[in-house]
Amino acid sequence: MSKHTVVTMPGDGIGNQVLPESLRVLKAVGFDADYVHADIGWDCWCNNGNALPERTIELLKKHELGLFGAITSKPNKAAQAELKPELQGKGYVYYSPIVTMRQKFNLDICMRPCVGFTGNPLNYIRKRTDGGFEEPHINTTVFRQNTEGMYAGIEWTNPPEIVRTALNSHAKFKAFANVPGQDLAVSVRIITRPAARRIVTAAFEYAKKKKFKGVTICEKPNVVRETSGMMEETAKEVKKNYPEIQLWSTNIDAQLMWLNKNPEDYNVIVASNLFGDILSDAFAGLVGGLGFAASGNIGDTVAVFEPTHGSAPKYAELNPPIVNPIAMILSAAMMVEHVGENDKAERIRNAVAEVVKEGKVRTYDMMRISGGAKSISQGAASTVQMTDAILAKL
Ligand code: NAI
Ligand code: MG
Repeated sequence: MSKHTVVTMPGDGIGNQVLPESLRVLKAVGFDADYVHADIGWDCWCNNGNALPERTIELLKKHELGLFGAITSKPNKAAQAELKPELQGKGYVYYSPIVTMRQKFNLDICMRPCVGFTGNPLNYIRKRTDGGFEEPHINTTVFRQNTEGMYAGIEWTNPPEIVRTALNSHAKFKAFANVPGQDLAVSVRIITRPAARRIVTAAFEYAKKKKFKGVTICEKPNVVRETSGMMEETAKEVKKNYPEIQLWSTNIDAQLMWLNKNPEDYNVIVASNLFGDILSDAFAGLVGGLGFAASGNIGDTVAVFEPTHGSAPKYAELNPPIVNPIAMILSAAMMVEHVGENDKAERIRNAVAEVVKEGKVRTYDMMRISGGAKSISQGAASTVQMTDAILAKL
């Protein structure tokens, strides 16, 4: 019997192209695991009226480790129209399986490393005052609270009377008291202290493990006083347990402005759900974008690792596949590190780094050409060729 069992969920579109590539890498690095396939996503919805089947939930519950590719998601109207004819009109409702998975297993810690690889032509460069250019080394990991905040889903257009009454009890609601219901949309931003403590602690633990000097809490407590205030207050509390690590505080708007100024100064950033989502995309853009952006969704028992990109339907049918498998492969490396096999994770990352540095094998995104069947004849590597190059370095 193998040491680990990994639930593999390729999902839709290019998820089916990149996930198998990460398995080749895991095998080559000697990761001792069995793999069980599980369904998730749009095809699953169309055929069963459920994007996250019970079997997938049960497998995750049992094995506690998941690798996920990507899924397709569409608005409710399209969801109803594409449902198998015999399932239509039976009251099936489409829910995002990713959000459901995060809530079901309380995968409240989302970790998104944005680390630049030397030689990546997509890396951010900055003009120096003497007119020359410099390429700062960016090594930022964003810790995003994954289950609360603006993603909790507690919202209304035309809120029910009882909610309006509650809102009316707040002095600031006077300004909106006469807005007709159908013209009033309300989304609730919820932060709870235990969840805030968990995400901030995860950030500090990571800084400690990687020997970083500081953690940045990125919120907006001067305006969003209660929720961002609780995040910041909690960060100050947690910091007391880590005397050797500094705590810096930035506002989300200013932080994004500073992205061009000194992104290399931020190694660990922690934020609530929506701000963390924005931050991680912003930092990922500095180190190569979607082809490089990996992530982990980590709960107390279950953890699921996935590239941040989606199913890229326009490339899903291409043969050979052309998309960059690196984001998926780096996600697999995160999984390996999560179970404590740091050297294997490091070997994977080093192999990727060598291939990027050498610059001989580049997928279309790394060549800054448009994707499509033509990109191969323009010299772009296919998905499989990129993995082959990484395997050769292992
Ligand atoms: P997307 O991430 O699928 O693709 C956007 C564009 O980024 C692609 O057209 C392609 O040019 C590029 N790209 C993405 N992955 C790449 C890779 N590995 N290598 C090279 N280039 C890559 O986002 P889009 O087009 O907004 O959404 C497509 C579908 O994916 C939608 O149904 C959306 O709901 C879903 N989605 C799912 C996510 C997930 O499964 N976690 C996340 C984001 C979107
Ligand atoms: Mg996003």
